[in-house]
Amino acid sequence: RNLARSCTRIKNHLKNQLRRNIMSKDKLIIFDTTLRDGEQSPGASMTSDEKVRIAKALEQMHVDVIEAGFPIASNGDFEAVRAVARVIRDSTVCGLARAKQIDIDRAGEAIKPANSGRIHTFIATSPIHMQQKLRMSPDQVLEQAVAAVRMAKKYTSDIEFSPEDAGRSEPDFLCRVIEAVIREGATTINIPDTVGYNLPHQFGGLVKDLIERVPNSDKAIFSVHCHNDLGLAVANSLSSVLNGARQVECTINGLGERAGNAALEEIVMAVRTRQDVFDCDTDLDTTQIMNCSRLVSGITGFAVQPNKAIVGANAFAHESGIHQDGILKSRETYEIMRAQDVGLSANKMVLGKHSGRNAFKTRMAELNIEFSSEEELNEVFANFKTLADKKHEIFDEDLQSLVTETSTELTNEPIKLVSLSVCSETGETPNAKITLNVDGKEKHAEATGGGPVDASFQAIEKIAKSGVELQLYSVNNITTGTDSQGEVTVRLQIDGGIYNGHGADTDIVIASAKAYVNGLNKVIANQKRTHPQRGKV
Ligand code: KIV
Ligand code: ZN
Repeated sequence: RNLARSCTRIKNHLKNQLRRNIMSKDKLIIFDTTLRDGEQSPGASMTSDEKVRIAKALEQMHVDVIEAGFPIASNGDFEAVRAVARVIRDSTVCGLARAKQIDIDRAGEAIKPANSGRIHTFIATSPIHMQQKLRMSPDQVLEQAVAAVRMAKKYTSDIEFSPEDAGRSEPDFLCRVIEAVIREGATTINIPDTVGYNLPHQFGGLVKDLIERVPNSDKAIFSVHCHNDLGLAVANSLSSVLNGARQVECTINGLGERAGNAALEEIVMAVRTRQDVFDCDTDLDTTQIMNCSRLVSGITGFAVQPNKAIVGANAFAHESGIHQDGILKSRETYEIMRAQDVGLSANKMVLGKHSGRNAFKTRMAELNIEFSSEEELNEVFANFKTLADKKHEIFDEDLQSLVTETSTELTNEPIKLVSLSVCSETGETPNAKITLNVDGKEKHAEATGGGPVDASFQAIEKIAKSGVELQLYSVNNITTGTDSQGEVTVRLQIDGGIYNGHGADTDIVIASAKAYVNGLNKVIANQKRTHPQRGKV
C-alpha cells in the first residue's frame, strides 16, 4: 500500500511539473467572495442593488469568479445572487450551498440566468466540526459530500467543493473525500483554513500533499480560502500558490468573518510584483483596484486603515525626508509598485462648482460608474451641484459616495429625512427637532440628548418607535479637510438581526441622521441574514 501511495505521489508530481513546463505561466484564478464571505462580516450586509454595483466593478477588473451570496440564507440573498447572475456576462457567478438538497436547488435556481454559473457546496471534515457541529461520522460526511456534487450536476458542470475546516482536518480523510468528489464531477477543490489557524509552511505543505496524494487531482483545480485570525490569510494563500494552488478565494479590502479573508489586492499585487518567484499570474486589470476598494468601503461603511497594504491612504505616501529624496532621484529606491498600477492616478482631476455636466460625466465614466437611467444621472448631478456649493473641491471619493447616497434616495424607502434642526451650546443640553416623511406623511418630533447626534437619534426614535439597539456608530471623513463629507455608519440590532445604515453629508449630524434612517429602512425591509456556517447540515 505504501509503495502504491509513493507511486501516485511521484506520478502526480511529474504530471504537474510537465504541465508547468509545457505552459510557461499558469493562470491564477481569482475567486472573489466579497459579496458572500465578506458580507458575513457583522454589519457588512448589502442590498441587492449594492451587490450588483460591486459585481459590475469586479467584472470590470476581470475577476474570474464572483461568489454573489448564499441563496438559501434568505429571499434577499437569493434575489441578489439572481440579480448578479442576470447582469454579469464575463465573470462566472457562483452561489454557495451546504451539502444539502434544498441549498443546492436554491443555489441552482439563483445562478440559472448566468452566462457561466457555478455551485459551491461545502461540508465540514475536521474531527471537531464532524463530532460537535454535524454529529456525523466521517463515512456519513463523505457520502453526503458525494451526494451534494451529484445533486449540483443537475444545474451546472462547474462545481466547487470545499471540505470546511480543512486546515484542521486529517489529511488521510481529506484525500478520501477529495478523490470521491472529483470522481463524482467536482471541478474545483477548495481547501479552506476556516478558522485561520494554519501557518504558511504548514498550509502550503498541506496543499502540496493533497495534490500529490489524491490520484485524480489532475482532474480539478486546487483552490484555497484563508481566514485572517492570525494575520496570515495572504501569506497562507501565497504559500499554497507556490505549492500548486491555482485559484485563490479572497475579498476586497480583506473584508470577511471575524478578522476577515485574504485581501484580493494584496494577493494580486504580490503575484504581479514578484513574477520572479511565481510561475503563474492573474488576468486582473490592477488599475481598477482602488475603485473597487473605495466602492466596497463606501457601501459597507468599513473604513480602510491608512497603513493598509496597497489601498491604504498612506500606502504610496512618503513622509520622511530621506525617503522623499530617494524617490525624487529614483522611484525604485523606496517603491516596489507604481501607484498608477493600482489605480491611483497622479494627476487626478478635481471637480468643483463650475464643472459642467460633461466634465462630471467624463470623470464618472473614467471611474467606471454607470447610471441605470437618465433619472439617476440627473439626480446624482443635482446632488453634485449641491455638494459643490458647500465644498470647494470634489474628489473621486466624493463622487463615489454621491452615487451611493443617490441610489438610497431613489429607492422607495418608507422613511425619509425631511429636515433636521439641532441646537448645541456650551452648558446647555443639546436639542434636536426632526421632520420625517413616513409612508408619505410628514411627522415631527423633538428630543434632547447627551450630544447633537444622540438628540437626533432620540427624536427619530420618538417617531419610529423601532426599539432597535445601536451597536456601532462610526464617522469617517471621506477626504481631507474640515469641509470634507463625513461618512457615518450605524449598526442596529433587533430580534437577533443586524442592520447597517449609511449616510454622508458635509454636516456630520445630518449624515448621522441619514445613516440612522437608512438603517431603520433596512429593518423594515427585513434584510436579515442567516449565517451559512452555523446550523446542522
Ligand atoms: O471559511 C470557510 O470555510 C468558508 C467555506 C464555505 C468555504 O467560507
Ligand atoms: Zn470563509
